[in-house]
Amino acid sequence: METFKLYNGVDMPCIGFGTDRTFVFIRKNILAGMVDFLKDITIGHGYHWKRDTSIIKIVKKAPQYDCHLFDTSSAYGQSERVLGKCLKKYSRDEYFIVTKLSNQEQREGDVRKALMRSLKHLNVDCVDLYLMHWPQTDTYLECWKQMEQLYKEGLARAIGVCNFKEHHFEELMKSAEIKPMVCQIESHPLFSQNKMLKYCKKNSIQMMAYTPTGRMDKRIRESEVLRTIAEIHHKDVAQVIMRWHYQRGVIPIANTTNLEHLQSNMNIFDFCLEQSEMESIDNMNIECRLRYDPDTVDFTKC
Ligand SMILES: NC(=O)c1ccc[n+]([C@@H]2O[C@H](COP(=O)([O-])OP(=O)(O)OC[C@H]3O[C@@H](n4cnc5c(N)ncnc54)[C@H](OP(=O)(O)O)[C@@H]3O)[C@@H](O)[C@H]2O)c1
Repeated sequence: METFKLYNGVDMPCIGFGTDRTFVFIRKNILAGMVDFLKDITIGHGYHWKRDTSIIKIVKKAPQYDCHLFDTSSAYGQSERVLGKCLKKYSRDEYFIVTKLSNQEQREGDVRKALMRSLKHLNVDCVDLYLMHWPQTDTYLECWKQMEQLYKEGLARAIGVCNFKEHHFEELMKSAEIKPMVCQIESHPLFSQNKMLKYCKKNSIQMMAYTPTGRMDKRIRESEVLRTIAEIHHKDVAQVIMRWHYQRGVIPIANTTNLEHLQSNMNIFDFCLEQSEMESIDNMNIECRLRYDPDTVDFTKC
Protein backbone atom coordinates (compact mmCIF):
# COMPACT_ATOMS: atom_id res chain seq x y z
CA MET A 1 0.00 0.00 0.00
CA GLU A 2 1.61 3.31 -1.09
CA THR A 3 1.15 5.98 1.58
CA PHE A 4 1.72 9.67 2.32
CA LYS A 5 2.77 10.63 5.84
CA LEU A 6 0.61 13.17 7.68
CA TYR A 7 2.42 15.71 9.84
CA ASN A 8 1.42 13.79 12.99
CA GLY A 9 3.16 10.65 11.65
CA VAL A 10 0.05 8.75 10.47
CA ASP A 11 0.55 6.92 7.15
CA MET A 12 -2.39 7.52 4.84
CA PRO A 13 -3.00 5.56 1.60
CA CYS A 14 -2.27 7.84 -1.32
CA ILE A 15 -5.38 6.90 -3.32
CA GLY A 16 -8.87 5.80 -2.35
CA PHE A 17 -12.53 5.17 -3.07
CA GLY A 18 -15.21 7.79 -2.39
CA THR A 19 -18.51 6.25 -1.34
CA ASP A 20 -20.81 9.26 -1.70
CA ARG A 21 -24.50 8.81 -0.95
CA THR A 22 -26.16 5.58 -1.99
CA PHE A 23 -29.72 4.53 -2.44
CA VAL A 24 -29.43 1.64 -0.06
CA PHE A 25 -31.28 3.80 2.41
CA ILE A 26 -34.42 3.71 0.29
CA ARG A 27 -34.99 0.28 1.77
CA LYS A 28 -34.91 1.67 5.30
CA ASN A 29 -37.06 4.71 4.82
CA ILE A 30 -39.07 4.64 1.66
CA LEU A 31 -40.51 8.14 1.96
CA ALA A 32 -37.30 10.00 2.89
CA GLY A 33 -35.41 7.93 0.36
CA MET A 34 -37.79 8.80 -2.45
CA VAL A 35 -37.65 12.52 -1.63
CA ASP A 36 -33.88 12.44 -1.80
CA PHE A 37 -33.99 10.36 -4.94
CA LEU A 38 -36.20 12.93 -6.66
CA LYS A 39 -33.88 15.73 -5.54
CA ASP A 40 -30.93 13.85 -6.94
CA ILE A 41 -32.39 13.22 -10.34
CA THR A 42 -33.49 16.81 -10.69
CA ILE A 43 -30.55 18.61 -9.07
CA GLY A 44 -27.91 16.01 -9.88
CA HIS A 45 -29.01 15.64 -13.53
CA GLY A 46 -29.29 11.91 -13.24
CA TYR A 47 -25.78 11.50 -11.88
CA HIS A 48 -27.00 9.57 -8.87
CA TRP A 49 -29.12 7.27 -11.00
CA LYS A 50 -26.39 4.62 -10.98
CA ARG A 51 -25.26 5.09 -7.37
CA ASP A 52 -27.24 2.15 -6.09
CA THR A 53 -26.35 -0.96 -4.20
CA SER A 54 -23.23 -1.38 -6.36
CA ILE A 55 -21.28 0.12 -3.45
CA ILE A 56 -21.73 -3.15 -1.53
CA LYS A 57 -20.19 -5.24 -4.29
CA ILE A 58 -17.34 -2.78 -4.72
CA VAL A 59 -16.42 -2.28 -1.06
CA LYS A 60 -16.39 -6.02 -0.44
CA LYS A 61 -13.79 -6.50 -3.16
CA ALA A 62 -11.86 -3.21 -2.94
CA PRO A 63 -9.01 -4.27 -0.60
CA GLN A 64 -8.26 -7.15 -2.99
CA TYR A 65 -7.73 -4.55 -5.71
CA ASP A 66 -5.31 -2.62 -3.54
CA CYS A 67 -7.88 -0.03 -2.50
CA HIS A 68 -7.50 0.50 1.23
CA LEU A 69 -8.80 4.04 1.73
CA PHE A 70 -12.56 4.64 1.99
CA ASP A 71 -14.07 8.10 2.13
CA THR A 72 -17.52 8.46 3.64
CA SER A 73 -19.61 10.86 5.70
CA SER A 74 -22.53 10.63 8.08
CA ALA A 75 -24.28 12.66 5.35
CA TYR A 76 -23.90 9.89 2.72
CA GLY A 77 -27.09 7.89 3.43
CA GLN A 78 -26.22 4.36 4.52
CA SER A 79 -22.63 4.51 3.34
CA GLU A 80 -21.06 4.28 6.83
CA ARG A 81 -23.19 1.25 7.66
CA VAL A 82 -22.33 -0.42 4.37
CA LEU A 83 -18.62 0.07 5.03
CA GLY A 84 -19.02 -1.25 8.58
CA LYS A 85 -20.66 -4.42 7.30
CA CYS A 86 -18.57 -5.05 4.20
CA LEU A 87 -15.15 -4.41 5.75
CA LYS A 88 -15.75 -6.64 8.77
CA LYS A 89 -14.01 -9.55 7.09
CA TYR A 90 -10.76 -7.59 6.69
CA SER A 91 -8.29 -6.92 9.48
CA ARG A 92 -8.39 -3.34 10.75
CA ASP A 93 -4.95 -2.44 9.39
CA GLU A 94 -6.10 -3.34 5.86
CA TYR A 95 -8.37 -0.33 5.54
CA PHE A 96 -8.19 3.37 6.31
CA ILE A 97 -11.54 5.01 7.13
CA VAL A 98 -12.28 8.66 6.55
CA THR A 99 -15.62 9.98 7.74
CA LYS A 100 -17.06 13.44 8.27
CA LEU A 101 -18.98 15.59 10.68
CA SER A 102 -22.02 16.71 8.67
CA ASN A 103 -23.49 20.21 8.70
CA GLN A 104 -26.61 18.94 10.44
CA GLU A 105 -24.39 17.46 13.16
CA GLN A 106 -22.51 20.76 13.42
CA ARG A 107 -25.82 22.53 13.99
CA GLU A 108 -26.74 20.01 16.68
CA GLY A 109 -23.44 20.94 18.33
CA ASP A 110 -22.50 17.64 19.98
CA VAL A 111 -19.49 16.38 18.03
CA ARG A 112 -18.81 13.52 20.46
CA LYS A 113 -22.30 12.15 19.93
CA ALA A 114 -21.88 12.46 16.16
CA LEU A 115 -18.53 10.66 16.12
CA MET A 116 -19.75 7.90 18.44
CA ARG A 117 -22.69 7.32 16.09
CA SER A 118 -20.32 7.12 13.10
CA LEU A 119 -18.03 4.70 14.96
CA LYS A 120 -21.00 2.48 15.70
CA HIS A 121 -22.13 2.48 12.08
CA LEU A 122 -18.61 1.85 10.87
CA ASN A 123 -18.07 -0.89 13.39
CA VAL A 124 -14.68 0.47 14.53
CA ASP A 125 -13.21 1.84 17.77
CA CYS A 126 -11.61 4.83 16.09
CA VAL A 127 -11.59 6.38 12.63
CA ASP A 128 -8.34 6.96 10.82
CA LEU A 129 -9.36 10.46 9.78
CA TYR A 130 -12.27 12.60 10.97
CA LEU A 131 -13.07 15.56 8.73
CA MET A 132 -15.31 18.55 9.15
CA HIS A 133 -17.54 18.40 6.04
CA TRP A 134 -18.00 22.17 5.50
CA PRO A 135 -16.82 25.36 7.23
CA GLN A 136 -20.35 26.20 8.29
CA THR A 137 -20.36 29.80 9.46
CA ASP A 138 -21.14 30.19 13.17
CA THR A 139 -20.47 26.54 14.06
CA TYR A 140 -17.13 25.47 12.60
CA LEU A 141 -14.76 27.10 15.07
CA GLU A 142 -16.51 25.64 18.10
CA CYS A 143 -16.87 22.22 16.43
CA TRP A 144 -13.15 22.16 15.63
CA LYS A 145 -12.38 22.55 19.34
CA GLN A 146 -14.51 19.49 20.06
CA MET A 147 -12.77 17.57 17.24
CA GLU A 148 -9.40 18.41 18.81
CA GLN A 149 -10.56 16.91 22.09
CA LEU A 150 -11.75 13.69 20.42
CA TYR A 151 -8.42 13.42 18.61
CA LYS A 152 -6.56 13.78 21.92
CA GLU A 153 -8.69 10.96 23.32
CA GLY A 154 -7.68 8.68 20.42
CA LEU A 155 -11.12 8.39 18.81
CA ALA A 156 -9.64 9.66 15.53
CA ARG A 157 -6.03 9.01 14.47
CA ALA A 158 -6.06 12.28 12.54
CA ILE A 159 -8.41 15.23 12.09
CA GLY A 160 -8.93 17.59 9.19
CA VAL A 161 -11.32 19.73 7.20
CA CYS A 162 -13.11 19.82 3.84
CA ASN A 163 -14.05 22.71 1.60
CA PHE A 164 -11.77 25.18 3.32
CA LYS A 165 -10.29 28.20 1.59
CA GLU A 166 -7.26 30.07 2.91
CA HIS A 167 -9.41 32.51 4.86
CA HIS A 168 -11.13 29.63 6.72
CA PHE A 169 -7.72 28.27 7.73
CA GLU A 170 -6.54 31.70 8.85
CA GLU A 171 -9.69 32.15 10.96
CA LEU A 172 -9.48 28.65 12.41
CA MET A 173 -5.83 28.99 13.38
CA LYS A 174 -6.59 32.06 15.51
CA SER A 175 -8.29 29.79 18.05
CA ALA A 176 -7.13 26.26 17.14
CA GLU A 177 -4.66 24.33 19.22
CA ILE A 178 -4.16 21.63 16.58
CA LYS A 179 -3.69 22.44 12.90
CA PRO A 180 -5.80 20.29 10.52
CA MET A 181 -3.74 17.43 9.15
CA VAL A 182 -5.77 17.11 5.95
CA CYS A 183 -7.76 19.37 3.66
CA GLN A 184 -10.25 17.69 1.28
CA ILE A 185 -11.43 19.91 -1.57
CA GLU A 186 -12.76 19.66 -5.10
CA SER A 187 -9.88 19.25 -7.53
CA HIS A 188 -9.56 17.86 -11.08
CA PRO A 189 -7.96 18.99 -14.35
CA LEU A 190 -10.62 21.67 -14.96
CA PHE A 191 -10.18 23.00 -11.42
CA SER A 192 -6.66 22.18 -10.32
CA GLN A 193 -6.57 24.27 -7.11
CA ASN A 194 -2.87 25.04 -7.51
CA LYS A 195 -3.02 27.91 -5.06
CA MET A 196 -4.61 25.79 -2.34
CA LEU A 197 -2.14 23.00 -3.03
CA LYS A 198 0.74 25.44 -2.50
CA TYR A 199 -0.87 26.72 0.69
CA CYS A 200 -1.36 23.16 2.00
CA LYS A 201 2.22 22.15 1.20
CA LYS A 202 3.60 25.29 2.84
CA ASN A 203 1.63 24.45 5.99
CA SER A 204 2.30 20.66 5.95
CA ILE A 205 -1.38 19.93 5.38
CA GLN A 206 -2.12 16.91 3.19
CA MET A 207 -4.50 17.77 0.33
CA MET A 208 -7.18 15.29 -0.77
CA ALA A 209 -9.06 15.72 -4.06
CA TYR A 210 -12.78 15.04 -4.22
CA THR A 211 -14.58 14.75 -7.56
CA PRO A 212 -11.03 13.90 -8.73
CA THR A 213 -11.98 12.83 -12.25
CA GLY A 214 -14.32 15.79 -12.62
CA ARG A 215 -17.05 13.15 -12.80
CA MET A 216 -15.54 12.29 -16.17
CA ASP A 217 -17.15 15.40 -17.63
CA LYS A 218 -17.20 15.47 -21.45
CA ARG A 219 -14.43 18.11 -21.47
CA ILE A 220 -12.25 15.65 -19.55
CA ARG A 221 -13.37 12.41 -21.19
CA GLU A 222 -12.81 13.82 -24.66
CA SER A 223 -9.76 15.98 -23.93
CA GLU A 224 -7.09 15.60 -26.62
CA VAL A 225 -4.40 16.38 -24.03
CA LEU A 226 -5.48 13.57 -21.73
CA ARG A 227 -6.16 11.13 -24.54
CA THR A 228 -2.74 11.66 -26.08
CA ILE A 229 -0.95 11.19 -22.75
CA ALA A 230 -3.05 8.10 -22.04
CA GLU A 231 -2.13 6.58 -25.40
CA ILE A 232 1.60 7.20 -24.83
CA HIS A 233 1.49 5.33 -21.52
CA HIS A 234 -1.00 2.64 -22.62
CA LYS A 235 -3.39 3.78 -19.90
CA ASP A 236 -6.87 5.32 -19.90
CA VAL A 237 -7.85 8.92 -19.19
CA ALA A 238 -9.00 8.19 -15.61
CA GLN A 239 -5.68 6.52 -14.80
CA VAL A 240 -3.74 9.50 -16.15
CA ILE A 241 -5.78 11.84 -13.94
CA MET A 242 -5.31 9.67 -10.84
CA ARG A 243 -1.56 9.55 -11.54
CA TRP A 244 -1.47 13.35 -12.00
CA HIS A 245 -3.01 13.79 -8.54
CA TYR A 246 -0.55 11.32 -7.03
CA GLN A 247 2.48 13.02 -8.60
CA ARG A 248 1.28 16.39 -7.27
CA GLY A 249 1.21 14.84 -3.80
CA VAL A 250 -2.60 14.87 -3.64
CA ILE A 251 -4.82 11.95 -2.55
CA PRO A 252 -7.70 11.37 -5.04
CA ILE A 253 -10.88 9.54 -3.97
CA ALA A 254 -12.77 8.58 -7.10
CA ASN A 255 -16.22 7.07 -6.94
CA THR A 256 -17.34 4.35 -9.31
CA THR A 257 -20.18 1.86 -9.68
CA ASN A 258 -17.99 -0.35 -11.84
CA LEU A 259 -15.56 -2.87 -10.39
CA GLU A 260 -13.35 -2.76 -13.47
CA HIS A 261 -13.06 1.01 -13.14
CA LEU A 262 -12.08 0.65 -9.49
CA GLN A 263 -9.43 -1.87 -10.42
CA SER A 264 -7.95 0.31 -13.15
CA ASN A 265 -8.18 3.50 -11.05
CA MET A 266 -5.91 1.83 -8.48
CA ASN A 267 -3.49 0.59 -11.13
CA ILE A 268 -1.38 3.72 -11.52
CA PHE A 269 1.96 2.76 -10.03
CA ASP A 270 3.63 1.24 -13.08
CA PHE A 271 4.06 4.44 -15.09
CA CYS A 272 5.25 7.99 -14.53
CA LEU A 273 4.13 11.25 -16.14
CA GLU A 274 6.87 13.48 -17.57
CA GLN A 275 7.18 17.02 -16.24
CA SER A 276 5.86 18.36 -19.57
CA GLU A 277 2.82 16.05 -19.34
CA MET A 278 2.12 17.23 -15.79
CA GLU A 279 2.28 20.81 -17.05
CA SER A 280 -0.07 20.11 -19.96
CA ILE A 281 -2.64 18.75 -17.52
CA ASP A 282 -2.09 21.73 -15.19
CA ASN A 283 -2.80 23.98 -18.17
CA MET A 284 -6.25 22.45 -18.61
CA ASN A 285 -7.33 24.40 -15.53
CA ILE A 286 -10.20 26.79 -16.33
CA GLU A 287 -11.24 27.41 -12.69
CA CYS A 288 -14.37 25.38 -13.37
CA ARG A 289 -15.96 24.27 -10.13
CA LEU A 290 -18.43 21.40 -10.60
CA ARG A 291 -19.58 21.40 -6.97
CA TYR A 292 -20.57 24.03 -4.42
CA ASP A 293 -18.41 27.03 -3.59
CA PRO A 294 -17.84 27.09 0.20
CA ASP A 295 -18.30 30.87 0.25
CA THR A 296 -21.74 30.88 -1.39
CA VAL A 297 -23.24 27.48 -0.60
CA ASP A 298 -26.40 27.10 1.45
CA PHE A 299 -25.06 24.89 4.26
CA THR A 300 -28.46 23.35 4.87
CA LYS A 301 -28.39 21.88 1.34
CA CYS A 302 -25.06 20.02 1.43
N1 LIG B 1 -15.97 16.57 1.05
C1 LIG B 1 -16.94 16.87 0.21
O1 LIG B 1 -17.63 17.89 0.36
C2 LIG B 1 -17.17 15.98 -0.97
C3 LIG B 1 -18.00 16.44 -2.01
C4 LIG B 1 -18.18 15.61 -3.11
C5 LIG B 1 -17.60 14.36 -3.17
N2 LIG B 1 -16.81 13.92 -2.13
C6 LIG B 1 -16.18 12.58 -2.17
O2 LIG B 1 -15.53 12.41 -3.42
C7 LIG B 1 -15.95 11.17 -4.01
C8 LIG B 1 -15.86 11.20 -5.51
O3 LIG B 1 -16.52 12.33 -6.04
P1 LIG B 1 -17.54 12.32 -7.26
O4 LIG B 1 -18.33 11.07 -7.29
O5 LIG B 1 -18.25 13.61 -7.18
O6 LIG B 1 -16.63 12.43 -8.55
P2 LIG B 1 -15.65 11.46 -9.38
O7 LIG B 1 -15.15 10.36 -8.53
O8 LIG B 1 -14.67 12.34 -10.03
O9 LIG B 1 -16.59 10.91 -10.52
C9 LIG B 1 -17.29 9.73 -10.49
C10 LIG B 1 -17.71 9.45 -11.93
O10 LIG B 1 -16.56 9.08 -12.68
C11 LIG B 1 -16.80 7.87 -13.35
N3 LIG B 1 -15.57 7.07 -13.33
C12 LIG B 1 -14.80 6.74 -12.27
N4 LIG B 1 -13.75 6.00 -12.66
C13 LIG B 1 -13.86 5.84 -14.01
C14 LIG B 1 -13.10 5.17 -14.99
N5 LIG B 1 -11.99 4.49 -14.68
N6 LIG B 1 -13.51 5.23 -16.28
C15 LIG B 1 -14.64 5.91 -16.62
N7 LIG B 1 -15.41 6.57 -15.73
C16 LIG B 1 -15.02 6.53 -14.43
C17 LIG B 1 -17.90 7.17 -12.59
O11 LIG B 1 -18.68 6.38 -13.46
P3 LIG B 1 -18.75 4.78 -13.27
O12 LIG B 1 -19.63 4.56 -12.08
O13 LIG B 1 -19.33 4.30 -14.54
O14 LIG B 1 -17.36 4.28 -13.04
C18 LIG B 1 -18.71 8.33 -12.07
O15 LIG B 1 -19.68 8.72 -13.03
C19 LIG B 1 -17.37 10.99 -3.46
O16 LIG B 1 -17.79 9.66 -3.55
C20 LIG B 1 -17.20 11.45 -2.03
O17 LIG B 1 -16.65 10.40 -1.25
C21 LIG B 1 -16.58 14.73 -1.04
